Amino acid sequence: MNTPDIDWGSLPFGYVKTDFNVRCTFQDGKWGPIEVSDSEYVPLHIAASCLHYSQEIFEGLKAFRGKDGKIRVFRMDENAKRFRDSALGISMEPLPVEIFEEMVRKVVELNARFVPPYGSGASLYIRPLEIGISPKIGVSPASEYMVIMLATPVGPYFKEGFKPTRVCLSRDYDRVAPKGTGAIKIGGNYAASLNAGQKAHDLGYSVMLYLDPKDKKYLDECGAANFFGIKENAYVTPNSATVLPSITNKSLRQIAEDLGMKVERREIPYEELDTFEEVGTCGTAAVCTAIGEIYDLDNKKSFNYGNGEAGPKITALYNHLRGIQDGELPDTHGWCEVIEVAE
Ligand code: PLP
Ligand code: COI
Repeated sequence: MNTPDIDWGSLPFGYVKTDFNVRCTFQDGKWGPIEVSDSEYVPLHIAASCLHYSQEIFEGLKAFRGKDGKIRVFRMDENAKRFRDSALGISMEPLPVEIFEEMVRKVVELNARFVPPYGSGASLYIRPLEIGISPKIGVSPASEYMVIMLATPVGPYFKEGFKPTRVCLSRDYDRVAPKGTGAIKIGGNYAASLNAGQKAHDLGYSVMLYLDPKDKKYLDECGAANFFGIKENAYVTPNSATVLPSITNKSLRQIAEDLGMKVERREIPYEELDTFEEVGTCGTAAVCTAIGEIYDLDNKKSFNYGNGEAGPKITALYNHLRGIQDGELPDTHGWCEVIEVAE
């Protein structure tokens, strides 16, 4: 297999062209065959519902090259289910879980030469998306949909890598509405977060940590990732209808239990920030990253954690998660699927 000329160790979390993407279209009331494309473009009707009314959902999952050379995809069944829930959340046609999984296998197989080597710190990011493609001017759901899965090799999401990152907090922004679309993964949520994210970047922070959109009392989403805190051997994470149910967070909660920690999923009042020994943020892109500082822009108050290094619990959680993904630790919960590729 022809290895691409990529400096895997210095890859950012960005887009790199790969060989193929896969597509599947819903037309005449049924899903068609999975098609392979080498084009980076999509032909769209000028009145397509995705362009006008944001009928768009997406997912993010990763494939890893293990020490044994095998390629493992992490928990794609969970992404398939969330993709289905997101579709239903904005009146789109849900893609059956089996087709989602088949598309993931295919896009990984076809781009296997872009799965970064073991130990590089990079992985193959798989980005499924679904769009409403039939023409609409009245505000109502499309009747035709297209699912596209692309794959691209990515490095760390935060510029600090595994070193603690700095985030800021402000009451001036809501990511989503209290009874809105926060618990599903629609493109519109990310458009609505861009100003807050830009503000954080402009001030030198990696992301904006939100408080709940209703009362501004409880910790909520952390940029495009979940928040968690550690204290007294407990892993504490928000239970909030405006937070995306992160598959990484779900996995870390299981790992925390496996490591003998308590797990609490509950409202976390802002004041509790003073009491955590370690805090972190987690997601497919963010993995499990320690937060070194949370700066409250409104009260000009800084919360500091650790001494420039990730704390012991976050380090253990990270190592365990990555160990399973790389095939170095036993996959006791059956989270990884090995993708067989003729190389
Ligand atoms: N929260 C938001 C807003 C996200 O975009 C993501 C990324 O998918 C997450 C949390 C983390 O979810 P997961 O661990 O399933 O990637
Ligand atoms: C992910 O972690 O997969 C995400 O979707 C977050 C972000 C890159 C949008």
